[in-house]
Amino acid sequence: MKYNRTAHLKNVLHHLYINPLEKCNLHCKICYTKKTSSILTEHQIFDFVDRYAKVVEVKVITFCGGEVMALSYFPKLVNRLVKRGIYIQCITNGTIDRLKELANPGMINLIVSLDGSREYHDSNRGTGQYDKSIIFLKKAKKLGFHTEIFSIVTKQNLPNIDQFEAQIHDQIGPIDITFHPRKPAEYLKQHPKSNIVGTTQGFDYLTGDEMRELWKHRKKVFPPKELGCYQVALASDGTVYGCCEGFEALGKIDDTPLQLINQLKCRIRGLGMGCSQPGFMCGLKEVILLHKKQSSSS
Ligand SMILES: C[S@@+](CC[C@H](N)C(=O)[O-])C[C@H]1O[C@@H](n2cnc3c(N)ncnc32)[C@H](O)[C@@H]1O
Repeated sequence: MKYNRTAHLKNVLHHLYINPLEKCNLHCKICYTKKTSSILTEHQIFDFVDRYAKVVEVKVITFCGGEVMALSYFPKLVNRLVKRGIYIQCITNGTIDRLKELANPGMINLIVSLDGSREYHDSNRGTGQYDKSIIFLKKAKKLGFHTEIFSIVTKQNLPNIDQFEAQIHDQIGPIDITFHPRKPAEYLKQHPKSNIVGTTQGFDYLTGDEMRELWKHRKKVFPPKELGCYQVALASDGTVYGCCEGFEALGKIDDTPLQLINQLKCRIRGLGMGCSQPGFMCGLKEVILLHKKQSSSS
């Protein structure tokens, strides 16, 4: 397969990723991120987007955290950005309902995290959290928001994915689910900041073979099979990285957008659509290399 990286990169530049905070209302047993206290202000975010938009049109912003719905200014910020014609995606645990404060559901995609069955999800996130997120998703759909699901995959919930998809279909109706293997030990070992191991009993990492099976049989997985998931990614401490999992900075929030874009462009290497940290590849380098080899020989 031939990859058009130039066209892909051009598209990617229209899509920013912003992590305004690390703090969260939940204490998931397997979360890999440190809950540091830095928080971007609404002004910092708006100003960054504004300066960037003078160089490249901003079409989409994905917000993650921490838990963005815990930020008092968040709905107001989203409404301002939507007013400028920007499509907003929020990765959220779906346990804090600010839906009524969001003015334009048709311009917002809520990506809610669900880790399998109610019992399994709650064993990671706390009793009652699954039901809260399902109620949130149902309400969001009814109000006209776009909705998706992100689902962490471990050795324990891997055999139940079909069942999980069927159960979600019954509860919510048709919805895309992206499967996200639990960050492997190799990721945690290499990442200088997002390196919390948490609980492993009952939440074991997938093996390389299991990850490859997941790529083979599921439509949407993260990171994507062909990589290319790089983008200009602003972190809560004002550092700008080349992807949501990056740790080699492209620069800082006050650098010119052109500097950041040029840094990103010269970072992209590796397989498929490429990676902005090809030496890291989310700790999946060996797994991805073998997947490529197997799929090109089959
Ligand atoms: C760090 S969370 C922050 C957003 C929000 N608080 C939530 O739970 O969706 C971002 C995404 O990472 C996922 N995640 C958390 N711990 C993970 C792990 N150990 N491996 C893979 N994904 C993980 C979450 O399920 C969520 O979809």
